[in-house]
Amino acid sequence: MRISKSLLVLGAYGATTALGQNSTNTTSPATLALSTDDFFSFFFHELLALSSNGGTASGEVLRAASQITAGDFESVYTEFKFLADSLHSVATSINATRYPVSAREAYFRAASYYRASVFFLVGNQTDPRLFDIWDAARADFDTAMALLDVPGERVTLKGPGFDIPVIFWKATRQDGCPAPTIILGNGYDAPQEETYHQLGREILSRGWNLVTYEGPGQPSVRREQGLGFIHDWWTVVTPVVDYLIEQRGADVDPQRIALGGISFGGTLAPLAASREHRIAATVAIDGLYSLQQGTLAQFPAALARLFDSGNQTAFDAYLNAARANPSVSSQFRWFIDQGLWAFATQSPFDWFTRLGEISLDPDVLANVSGPVFVGRGQNDDTAPGQEKKVADLLGDRAYYHEFETALGAGAHCQLGAEPQLAQAVMDWLGDVFEKIQ
Ligand SMILES: *[C@@H]1O[C@H](CO)[C@@H](O)[C@H](O)[C@H]1NC(C)=O
Ligand SMILES: *[C@@H]1O[C@H](CO)[C@@H](O)[C@H](O)[C@H]1NC(C)=O
Ligand SMILES: *[C@@H]1O[C@H](CO)[C@@H](O)[C@H](O)[C@H]1NC(C)=O
Ligand SMILES: *[C@@H]1O[C@H](CO)[C@@H](O)[C@H](O)[C@H]1NC(C)=O
Ligand SMILES: *[C@@H]1O[C@H](CO)[C@@H](O)[C@H](O)[C@H]1NC(C)=O
Ligand SMILES: *[C@@H]1O[C@H](CO)[C@@H](O)[C@H](O)[C@H]1NC(C)=O
Repeated sequence: MRISKSLLVLGAYGATTALGQNSTNTTSPATLALSTDDFFSFFFHELLALSSNGGTASGEVLRAASQITAGDFESVYTEFKFLADSLHSVATSINATRYPVSAREAYFRAASYYRASVFFLVGNQTDPRLFDIWDAARADFDTAMALLDVPGERVTLKGPGFDIPVIFWKATRQDGCPAPTIILGNGYDAPQEETYHQLGREILSRGWNLVTYEGPGQPSVRREQGLGFIHDWWTVVTPVVDYLIEQRGADVDPQRIALGGISFGGTLAPLAASREHRIAATVAIDGLYSLQQGTLAQFPAALARLFDSGNQTAFDAYLNAARANPSVSSQFRWFIDQGLWAFATQSPFDWFTRLGEISLDPDVLANVSGPVFVGRGQNDDTAPGQEKKVADLLGDRAYYHEFETALGAGAHCQLGAEPQLAQAVMDWLGDVFEKIQ
């Protein structure tokens, strides 16, 4: 899941119901609450959002949501594992030779629900379910992918000290010419399989190539290679660009390669584009300058002071106690758990310090050579003001786009309004690419 988009989202969802408000009142709740636990509500919305592009089905998600106990991480596992196993059984009962579309769609959804089931389990980094269930998700996704008219192709590229899992999704085009290509990465927690259901199908349906990938800290690299996030993200992206230019020349127009990043990927993509200048345009969904600074601003004052004091023992003790305390908000517990997992550490202080090293700054942004789409959700409280800051530092290289709460697009990464996101991003990219000689 994407919270992947992950968001960090400390707090954008109101749990109250809007009564008697009209749609243009942006101080009323941004959307309908699906749980008394705000973060569970957000998580369910993330899953519902994948339904636009075949990753889930709304009735299936809402049924599971109705059975889940607010704040109970194990009940998320139980209900989504049940749903995943059930959809997997449906999928395997279909004769895929005869009914390939039915089988494919069921396998895709089973894969999404397997991934959802372990979303909240990252607090115990040795929980075998984090690995076994993930393998089941991968297997179902790959079965589904093989049933596409043009199957995605998995390749493993070499980075400095790590392998980069990539899926190349070739455009379907009548003209057979090399096509524009978008390399699209996710953020703090979502896997590349989810990227396909989020914006990936939107890109492919416009006749462009899609490349999804994961680097250190992201789900499969973390699981299979034990590696946490790194700051020099261009070392992940450059081998991908090499591959496109050197090995996919018949499919890829080398002048028209864009790099997009979702959520924390909104930091990673400009970071990579600051050193990888074969990227013709960059897309930051949304414009996130520093996840660490955005988070620090939302910490209780005493915790922020503890971090600033540099006392690792005390900071670790505070956050370890918080994440073990069921009365602390699900979002806060999960955010720390996910951070420790994704940075492959047991020390909250280590995680949070290294998170700060993965930030933009004026010098990094000065090095981004092409135009940059900077998105902002009107109701996104992840890191308020950072999108504008990124755009201002980029100056006339930035295209700043605010998505409206009144149209259901105001959440972080325009969660649930992917068609609006795709329209804005893809039409802008189309204009940018049109001008390239
Ligand atoms: C919604 O309420 C605002 C005041 O909050 C008002 O200005 C606006 O006209 C209303 N819009 C509709 C469509 O009723
Ligand atoms: C908008 O919604 C908020 C929160 O529900 C409410 O307090 C406020 O009165 C509403 N504003 C208008 C103009 O209706
Ligand atoms: C599956 O469908 C194909 C094509 O209709 C058919 O040839 C094959 O026998 C079927 N397989 C099974 C196990 O029924
Ligand atoms: C983590 O999971 C492992 C494997 O299931 C288990 O042995 C261990 O007790 C768990 N640790 C905690 C702190 O729950
Ligand atoms: C760090 O915090 C711990 C626990 O609160 C305290 O015992 C220790 O003296 C502190 N260390 C420093 C260098 O302030
Ligand atoms: C900007 O690019 C130059 C040339 O590649 C490099 O030497 C410099 O370190 C870069 N600055 C930043 C902050 O990335």
